Amino acid sequence: HSTVCLLWCCSPAVLSAASVTKVQQRKLHHAVVPKGQGGRSSSSGIAATVFGATGFLGRYVVNRLGRIGCQMVVPHRCDQYDIMYLKPMGDLGQIIFMEWDARNQDSIKRAVENSNVVINLVGREWETWNYLYEDVFVTIPQQIAKASREAGVTKLIHMSHLNADIRSRSKYLRNKAVGETAVRDEFPEAVILKPAEFFGREDRFFNYFANMRRFGGAIPLISMGKKTEKQPVHVVDVAKAIVNAARDPDSNGKTYALVGPNRYLLYDLVKYIYGMAHRPFLPYPLYIFYTFSLVARYFAMNPFEPWTTADKVDRFHTTDMKYPGLPGLEDLGITPSTVEQRIIEIMRFHRKFRYQETDIDETRPAKTVDY
Ligand SMILES: NC(=O)c1ccc[n+]([C@@H]2O[C@H](COP(=O)([O-])OP(=O)(O)OC[C@H]3O[C@@H](n4cnc5c(N)ncnc54)[C@H](OP(=O)(O)O)[C@@H]3O)[C@@H](O)[C@H]2O)c1
Repeated sequence: HSTVCLLWCCSPAVLSAASVTKVQQRKLHHAVVPKGQGGRSSSSGIAATVFGATGFLGRYVVNRLGRIGCQMVVPHRCDQYDIMYLKPMGDLGQIIFMEWDARNQDSIKRAVENSNVVINLVGREWETWNYLYEDVFVTIPQQIAKASREAGVTKLIHMSHLNADIRSRSKYLRNKAVGETAVRDEFPEAVILKPAEFFGREDRFFNYFANMRRFGGAIPLISMGKKTEKQPVHVVDVAKAIVNAARDPDSNGKTYALVGPNRYLLYDLVKYIYGMAHRPFLPYPLYIFYTFSLVARYFAMNPFEPWTTADKVDRFHTTDMKYPGLPGLEDLGITPSTVEQRIIEIMRFHRKFRYQETDIDETRPAKTVDY
């Protein structure tokens, strides 16, 4: 009798009838209820969709979410074997991979419908034949915000840029500014994060300058980099900021400016990069920007990742904005790492064999600019 009773209880008809009586607005799974000690095998109560998880920042965000026991949906467009490294970042079955197409609204809807937090890290440093900056920084974020609002998502975290500005020389930064407004219009409670350029092992900032040694070692800098101030932030601090913003109910509707603790002249920063790599630093002034633009246009024709673009040069020579009125990393409970603490992780790879183990104290740290 008990076997029959068990079979009856588990029959799909009875299960669906039970779920009908429980008025359920969202398709959230019961496993989203927080439980456990707070580690990777617990449940934090966060079910997050992470768009752009396959990028530089994405891996740090997925790992940080995984280690506090979040469930994650990772929409991707690459081969499934290319994202295998993300799989062990969450406990068994906690990361769900699904294919998505940024131009297909239904696939965005499917990606967000089971989540209470949506994180948008989609971005591209260069324009492609298929996706312009307008698509990547305005249309796609707008579509994600729209789908999130319609699905009843409680928190949307959108990545913008510290220097996003409609008057910027860089098209990337102009579109980032438009994207911020578009996201706010669709989802007024969105959390907008405005990080400075981030540095970390796989970055395209410190590695970009360090890789110039492969092109003869001469480094083109507009005004020798002496008119540009930069305040880079470590990628792990940005990932922590995303996780803390996801957990903090008071973060909704706020815009955060995420910067590192020190501000440097670009010249001093690149000199320090080369000092730490134990390579000769040979900067030359890039007076005639338009000549360089032509050279950069040649590089931009690369169908894969172009080594540089005119837009990237503009962006890197834009002085980091100061937002004293906006909350920052400290308001999210994070003490930011300095460049000096982390630079060796990136630069060891650029050192010659004989300098591999050289003490980091042998390189004089970069001069900082008073805030
Ligand atoms: N890196 C920085 O220093 C920095 C500074 C400030 C702000 N940000 C912003 O922070 C966010 C993350 O940066 P990141 O450095 O991690 O970027 P990233 O390494 O370039 O990764 C971008 C992600 O977006 C996805 N993506 C790009 N275009 C797409 C498209 N058309 N359709 C679907 N997916 C697309 C990529 O997927 P695939 O792997 O399939 O290409 C990848 O997962 C971006 O919004 C970026 O603008 C970055």
